[in-house]
Amino acid sequence: MFRHGNKPSRSWSGTGGFRVPVLFTVLILVLVALILLFRHDGDKPSSSVGSVKQKWSSFESLVQFNPTVEFRNGTDVIWQIPDSPKAVLFVAHGCGGRAINFWDKSPKCPNCVGLPEERLIVLHALARKFAVLTISSVGKCWSFGEERMIVKEIIKWWVDKYKLEKLPVFALGASSGGHFVSMLATDMSFSSITVMIAEGLFDHMDITRGYPPTLFVHMPKDESRRQRIDANLRMLKDEGIDVAEIKCMEFPLSPNFLADRIPGLDNTVSMKLFDLFWDKGFIDKNGYMKADGRAIHLKAALRESKIVLPDMHLFHHIQEELNLAFAYHEMTSLQSKQIFDWFEAHMS
Ligand SMILES: *[C@@H]1O[C@H](CO)[C@@H](O)[C@H](O)[C@H]1NC(C)=O
Repeated sequence: MFRHGNKPSRSWSGTGGFRVPVLFTVLILVLVALILLFRHDGDKPSSSVGSVKQKWSSFESLVQFNPTVEFRNGTDVIWQIPDSPKAVLFVAHGCGGRAINFWDKSPKCPNCVGLPEERLIVLHALARKFAVLTISSVGKCWSFGEERMIVKEIIKWWVDKYKLEKLPVFALGASSGGHFVSMLATDMSFSSITVMIAEGLFDHMDITRGYPPTLFVHMPKDESRRQRIDANLRMLKDEGIDVAEIKCMEFPLSPNFLADRIPGLDNTVSMKLFDLFWDKGFIDKNGYMKADGRAIHLKAALRESKIVLPDMHLFHHIQEELNLAFAYHEMTSLQSKQIFDWFEAHMS
């Protein structure tokens, strides 16, 4: 740039009198930037892609739950279609999950549970104009035989009924649901799939060039799974399939974290729980979970403490968030932006 002439140097010497204040300003700006960066780092999960933790209510002004519930082919089917949908998303829960976990309890769905991560995934999807379809597995986990045909039929029936057949269809499955989605992708045509905290059942299928672009969202703390995902990533890439991965890392709890993530749990209870976790040694001095949320004796600790949850069902919501903070085998909505960006990059 400076070779273009000596004008820059001339203007430098011309403004020589301002050099010190300019340098000073630059220094201050750099300092401010560094402070901001440092502060920002403090309240971000240390995920490689990062994502500011979203409040449970952050979609309130954009989109509300208004699901339709139907019992079909022996299972619960729950969906919502936003105005002018641009895509379809089928979501498959993990073992022990149900379609009701993805939607808040409401007059339209009195049995709905609205687990914190599940509900935020759906709200993200609806806000981005994805029509969302959730189906319960018949057993505790998904099975990989006839159930694939049943789900394929339900998706087709629903897409036809609501005249969504021109839209690209996506699927996201977690754990057992991730395995299920990885196989379903050989039965029907998806524009892209997300396989969450699962390596997929690629050993059990023939991958052809028609296999959809696949995004793995996983928690590398689960080391053996990480290795299997690495192998599948390489295999799919070698077959010419578009693949990517998002690694979800642990992050520290804060006193407000549970109130921020769980509808119906206020700041006072959230802070009391945080203190309890500290007293019980569940978290270290930086707020990181020391052990898996399933391994700690949360229920007993709660019973001993005098903390009254507004609703005992919130126990599962709390446990989900603790597992998420520990970054071990749990459904996550923290990477929703990256997931939906990936979907939107594969709309055809
Ligand atoms: C699912 O239910 C529909 C309507 O009741 C029925 O026509 C269809 O055969 C069923 N599919 C399976 C696989 O049972």
